[in-house]
Amino acid sequence: MIIVAHDRYFLNKVVTKVVELDNGHATVFLGNYSDYAAKKAMLRNAQLKAWMNQQQEIKHQEQVIARLKSFNREKSIKRAESREKMLDKIDRLEKPTELNSEIHLQLHPRVESGEDVLKVEHLSKAFDSQQLFSDLNFSVKRGEKVAIIGNNGTGKTTILKIINSVIEADAGSFTLGSKVHIGYYDQEHHVLHMEKTLFEEIADDYPTLTNTEIRNTLAAFLFTGDDVFKQIKDLSGGERGRVSLAKLMLSEANFLILDEPTNHLDIVSKEILEHALNQYTGTVLYVSHDRYFINQTASRILDLTGNTLVNYIGNYDYYLEKREELTRIYAPETSVSSVEQSTTAAIASSGKDEWQKRKEEQARERKRQNDLKKTEDQIQKLEARNQEIDDQMCLESVYTDVAKCMELNKEKTENANKLEALYEVWESLM
Ligand SMILES: Nc1ncnc2c1ncn2[C@@H]1O[C@H](COP(=O)(O)OP(=O)(O)OP(=O)(O)O)[C@@H](O)[C@H]1O
Ligand SMILES: [Mg+2]
Repeated sequence: MIIVAHDRYFLNKVVTKVVELDNGHATVFLGNYSDYAAKKAMLRNAQLKAWMNQQQEIKHQEQVIARLKSFNREKSIKRAESREKMLDKIDRLEKPTELNSEIHLQLHPRVESGEDVLKVEHLSKAFDSQQLFSDLNFSVKRGEKVAIIGNNGTGKTTILKIINSVIEADAGSFTLGSKVHIGYYDQEHHVLHMEKTLFEEIADDYPTLTNTEIRNTLAAFLFTGDDVFKQIKDLSGGERGRVSLAKLMLSEANFLILDEPTNHLDIVSKEILEHALNQYTGTVLYVSHDRYFINQTASRILDLTGNTLVNYIGNYDYYLEKREELTRIYAPETSVSSVEQSTTAAIASSGKDEWQKRKEEQARERKRQNDLKKTEDQIQKLEARNQEIDDQMCLESVYTDVAKCMELNKEKTENANKLEALYEVWESLM
């Protein structure tokens, strides 16, 4: 399999080799993502050190050359020239670029909102005959970082669209608090205009910004030079994500509503977004499937399941711990059976092979237990028979009868050989 992914958990579980594309070079690392990250950090440090040493050496040589030239003697100039030749010949190391490839994202609200940011009451929505959710009630207070999670197609994006007045609810309402100013990052990037260039996308929304300010903003999201004249429609998924983040930053909103903001983002950018959200003093409501990201950033989790929302005050680890218990209480429609189903589904999706293997393993174990029992029985029988023989040999009627004695002795020797073999079998079975 060849996989392109930015999901650290997933890569760690699945891959055995990592091919990194960076700055036009491909580098192969054996192992999973953690192995790659560790080796990469080491390599980068070594490269940086080598580059800095070389820079220092070059600077030193240049100083010596300048000094020799300043003596202005035939001999000194000759020496300077030969040093210059040497300096021209050295293989100049490329500066490791990674440090410059990080986006600069800072999220600050321009004004503080009121204490109550959002109140959703009795919200319902259906598409045709498909009821997504009904009678949803929840509120969000200033400073909260709330993650909405749930399976594909349960209606998470739909909730965010309703709150952003992109579509209407069938019933119920939502209220925004005083001085609430929303910054919306939508999953499908409808807030971007496909025909516009990057530069126009920013300039049209923020007409007071100067050209330099626009260029600086875009540069902070790694769009430099002629990049800024690319059209949105030609950008990759991750690049569109970066433009949306740039607009989010400029909005200086105090209530961020984000629909899968880490989608397509590379790993470094995800970490920067994590950091920016944790520093952000405003309120955040987002949808995500990224377990790692949720765990780093959420203070509360809303699970959309069985047409309703189940509330977990904690991060993703807490959610995992409490899921079964709270689902049974607050979303009885999905309740235990669906939690169980999803577990069964997980087993099923981990492959029939796995299931088959487990069955075979169970059969093997049963056979082993059986064999063990049989062997022990045989050992016991033979040991008991030997004890019997010993007892008989003590009887006068037996030990005076040479023929009988020989017969019993023969049997005992045969038994000893059998026992030897049985014990070996028993040990290996154990
Ligand atoms: N305009 C529409 N007309 C008809 N059905 C729609 C419309 N918009 C969404 N749906 C349906 O509603 C359901 C919920 O969609 P939504 O986009 O809210 O899901 P989601 O929870 O965000 O899923 P995902 O995790 O995949 O992003 C889906 O089955 C979708 O097909
Ligand atoms: Mg969605």
